[in-house]
Amino acid sequence: MLTQIQHLAQSIAEQVVAHRRHLHTYPELSFWEFQTAAYIAQELTHMGLAPQKMATTGVVALIEGRHPEKKTVALRADIDALPIKEMNEVPYKSVHEGVMHACGHDAHTASLLGTAYILQQLRHEFEGTVKLIFQPGEEKIPGGASLMIQEGVLQNPAPSHIIGQHVMPQLPVGKIGFREGMYMASTDELYIRIVGKGGHAAMPDRLIDPVYIAAHLVVSLQQVVSRMAPPRIPSVLSVGRFIAEGITNVIPNEVFLQGTFRTMDEEWREEAHRRIGKLATELVSSMGGICEIEIRKGYPYLINNPALTARMRHAAQAYVGKDNVVALDLWMAGEDFAFYTQHIPGCFYRLGTGNEARGIVSGVHTPTFDIDESALILGCGLMSWLAIEELKHA
Ligand code: NI
Repeated sequence: MLTQIQHLAQSIAEQVVAHRRHLHTYPELSFWEFQTAAYIAQELTHMGLAPQKMATTGVVALIEGRHPEKKTVALRADIDALPIKEMNEVPYKSVHEGVMHACGHDAHTASLLGTAYILQQLRHEFEGTVKLIFQPGEEKIPGGASLMIQEGVLQNPAPSHIIGQHVMPQLPVGKIGFREGMYMASTDELYIRIVGKGGHAAMPDRLIDPVYIAAHLVVSLQQVVSRMAPPRIPSVLSVGRFIAEGITNVIPNEVFLQGTFRTMDEEWREEAHRRIGKLATELVSSMGGICEIEIRKGYPYLINNPALTARMRHAAQAYVGKDNVVALDLWMAGEDFAFYTQHIPGCFYRLGTGNEARGIVSGVHTPTFDIDESALILGCGLMSWLAIEELKHA
């Protein structure tokens, strides 16, 4: 079976690269992936599958093996692009001005189309059902995953496990990365307005200086991470926006702060929100100002089910060799695959797409991001193999 999959993957290499280049040329923003969804549906239909639309621009299809009711495993690819202007001079450069597949979701989609083809060829040789999930809006709150789940993507049939793949430019092409347990962070946005009383900077005693208060608050908020967070739970709090529109001799009336709070535990996350709110309001009021704070919830934290991830790592070692399977570090970025992992055991792993010798080193979400396309052959073959291996597991 393993060599059969590897041969099938090799045989469609050109096709999968063509899919990726097509998607890369015509990227679409989160929740606007109409052409992308139509392309996916058309390709799946050509393979003899019956794709269904879900959450407007999502596409779902089933590949039924023998005894399809026995077990269902879901495979997920995200399909949206980012509001970034591509700087690469490549034949498949984005023709949609200011929109770019800068997070490799084109690669995920192309790879899952390849996987669909391979599994469809092999459907008489495995038992159970594979549910293909092409998910929109990964890059934008509330996350396409949450909408797909609301619309029942984890029902009829209900997958018992879900597997997701993401490109990783820091990992050389040919390598695969896994991490059991906590892997990626919850992502919440902080919006703070501090109202004081502005006026001439020469007479601070007659004013309530919101710049001074905000400066204290930025420093003080770090105690959430350094003094309040349980040390065993990774936490990050960053303030990235500090707007005080006074001038050399004018203190403004108000200051705006924006930031992010990230962690890897849902209970602590809730508690941290309370603490941040309390700290901000009390500190600002103790200094005479008024604080308005809004915490917008983003994605939950992503936990890779340890048992499933151990099985997937083992299977991947058989596919690419032990030396090519590496352990991943914690990653404080967010990923809406986390929503699935709140419902069923999931495994989110990394596909190496970097190639230093060829100058493919740019990080995700940058205008020069690109992938070594030879990763796609491994991407679609490995995912097929992982799905079939997991279906075998009772
Ligand atoms: Ni991404």
